[in-house]
Amino acid sequence: MMWTMPQLKRTQAIKRIALLTSGGDAPGMNAAVRAVVRTALERDVEAFGVEKGYSGLVHGQMALMDRASVANILHRGGTVLKTDRSEEFKRPEVRKRIAEDLRRQDIGALVVIGGDGSLTGAHLLQTETGFPVIGLPGTIDNDIFGTDDSIGFDTAVNTALEAIDRIRDTATSHERVFLVEVMGRSTGFIAASVGIAGGAEIVLMPGRDLGFEEICHTLKESERRGKKSSLIVIAEGENPNLTNQLTRSLNEHGFQARAAILGHVQRGGSPTGHDRVLASMLGSAAVDYLLAGQSDLLVGVRGDEVIAAPLAQVIGKKKEQPREHIALARLLAT
Ligand code: F6P
Repeated sequence: MMWTMPQLKRTQAIKRIALLTSGGDAPGMNAAVRAVVRTALERDVEAFGVEKGYSGLVHGQMALMDRASVANILHRGGTVLKTDRSEEFKRPEVRKRIAEDLRRQDIGALVVIGGDGSLTGAHLLQTETGFPVIGLPGTIDNDIFGTDDSIGFDTAVNTALEAIDRIRDTATSHERVFLVEVMGRSTGFIAASVGIAGGAEIVLMPGRDLGFEEICHTLKESERRGKKSSLIVIAEGENPNLTNQLTRSLNEHGFQARAAILGHVQRGGSPTGHDRVLASMLGSAAVDYLLAGQSDLLVGVRGDEVIAAPLAQVIGKKKEQPREHIALARLLAT
């Protein structure tokens, strides 16, 4: 997939920018870092990489990056800048001090690559201090309002699918029911994609769970139609024990059930081509928005375009899971 890039005119004489990755790491963050640094250098702007997310800003840990410092990172998972979930940055007086520090170093803007919490921090920094920020959606959850896609989502779905295909083999051999839990916090974007692409018999989404009776009924129906093994994909949701509890209950009701909680394996690994292209486009566009004098924005994608949306209209909002995705996963399973 390629998106149309915005046509932006340079109006700002920013000399230096800083960038950081924050929150849960996501495959493709390195591709975004590389794109920000290389686009900045191409526009005669210096780029400073902040270590460990907002914690690095709090403790003044940043280093000037050159072309070579982002060589050979495009294909690597994780984030070379490291990441963190900073508690200190949640304090307004800390954000004020950071804006002053950045200005003192002649840094004119900050690019933040992360999830909803990280983007909220970026927005607060700008509204409270006037320091220009741009946010990029970097999370495997794809739960950021205002953008269709986020850096890392496609890779996480493919990683989960690889695991599921393997689990299918053993489920078929033993004629078992496998419950596979995927990440996604309180949203089910990973679960829905994995459910459809992995041919799950049942997909359990946060807040839209089927009752236990209905699950048993679906499994028995599936058996009646000749299926000897089944796969249930579960979105992790808010209940950390859901998958194990359900597995226990199914065993008590005569099924041979086993649980596989995929966990952080979904966050690692080399980013897919899709995520590399997405991250490269968003990283490059972020610099051009800043140089065009635009900030306090999320740079994301909608349809076939790279877009920018005010952070104020994005943060804290729930991105709804299209009902038809869940419906399709269930329809194809039967
Ligand atoms: O937001 C990304 C994510 O991987 C979620 O899917 C998951 O719930 C959470 O982070 C796990 O966070 P941590 O790595 O801090 O345990």
